[in-house]
Amino acid sequence: MAVPLFDTSTPLESLRSEIVERLTAVVGDGRFILGPEVQAFEREFAAYLGVEHVVGVANGTDALTIALRAAGVGPGDEVVVPSYTFYASAEAIPPTGATPVFCDVEEETGNVTVDTVRAALTPRTKAVIAVDLFGNPAPIREIAAETGLPVIEDAAQAAGASAHGRRAGSLGTVATFSFFPSKNLGCFGDGGAIATDDEAIADAARMLRFHGSRDKVSFEKVGYNSRLDELQAAILRVLLPHLDGWTAGRRAAARAYEEAGLGEMVRLPAVAEGIEPAWHLYVVRHSDADALAGALSEAGVQARGYYRTPVHRQPAMAQWGAGAELPVTDELARTNLAIPISPVLSAAQAREVTAAIGAALAGRSSMAGVRQG
Ligand SMILES: Cc1ncc(COP(=O)(O)O)c(C=O)c1O
Repeated sequence: MAVPLFDTSTPLESLRSEIVERLTAVVGDGRFILGPEVQAFEREFAAYLGVEHVVGVANGTDALTIALRAAGVGPGDEVVVPSYTFYASAEAIPPTGATPVFCDVEEETGNVTVDTVRAALTPRTKAVIAVDLFGNPAPIREIAAETGLPVIEDAAQAAGASAHGRRAGSLGTVATFSFFPSKNLGCFGDGGAIATDDEAIADAARMLRFHGSRDKVSFEKVGYNSRLDELQAAILRVLLPHLDGWTAGRRAAARAYEEAGLGEMVRLPAVAEGIEPAWHLYVVRHSDADALAGALSEAGVQARGYYRTPVHRQPAMAQWGAGAELPVTDELARTNLAIPISPVLSAAQAREVTAAIGAALAGRSSMAGVRQG
């Protein structure tokens, strides 16, 4: 049986007619930008997260840029950001006029820590972006408490996760989400959101997403045309009530991997005390990760390395990343391997993937053959 890396379609099957109904209603209503669906989704997602304000925007990258600017980041400032993340976490910084300063991560979780952030601080540091990597929340409250800086929680991968009883997306000064279709809460195109308890940040974000204007008459800032649209918000309103159930399915799949003995073959992602991850990706580690992926592919199991070239080594980041020494980032970039996870990955599939990994590692010579071939 083939096991895909993601399964985004099975969880949506039973919701198809409800989604079509809601989309038809939006088409009938004829309002497509910043109408009642976006307003209702912003209210419902804020209630889900336990925050005061949610501001819908066009995608998770814009969400970061707008959140940074709304939090007061601008030209001349530095923003600390991990390099072991999706490129957009850092790409969002230069458009504010600030510069990214890359920090390392801890080996066990791949997340930033108080110490890795502290090593990157300078007198010009204005904010920290902490990514809840692969859906495993970073120690955001500790970083905020220890540094005294605003922390922007990049929760793009962490919808459904929580830390010490609080939802991911409510942990920092302001948080950002992506609703890219493969995300844990994904719409049918691009979408994003900013979440915060801070009224001034929410107000600035609302203005920035709409050309820097409150009324389309007076333009106070050079802003963006970056709105979540009504059709996507209508879809997200159907999906949101199912997020916790899907997250439970992802956690059950992770437990099934542990129970199948996967931890004896590869290094499993660590979970800090009080953290309940949402396992957007289930990323294990092995010294020969690419060869293992090749052998798994022959067995019908999809697996993929993420961020093999970390952000500070990307050509576009050369002017800010060239001098950075981030040994743990380099090691994790080389050895990580995402294996199948989804809300509907069964215990039988987890056992099958585990057995395929066991077989691939047992026949290491064939792994080497796959790599050379
Ligand atoms: C950690 C992280 N940050 C930011 C983004 C950017 O989100 P988007 O693709 O919606 O712009 C993504 C996802 O793609 C992500 O995984």
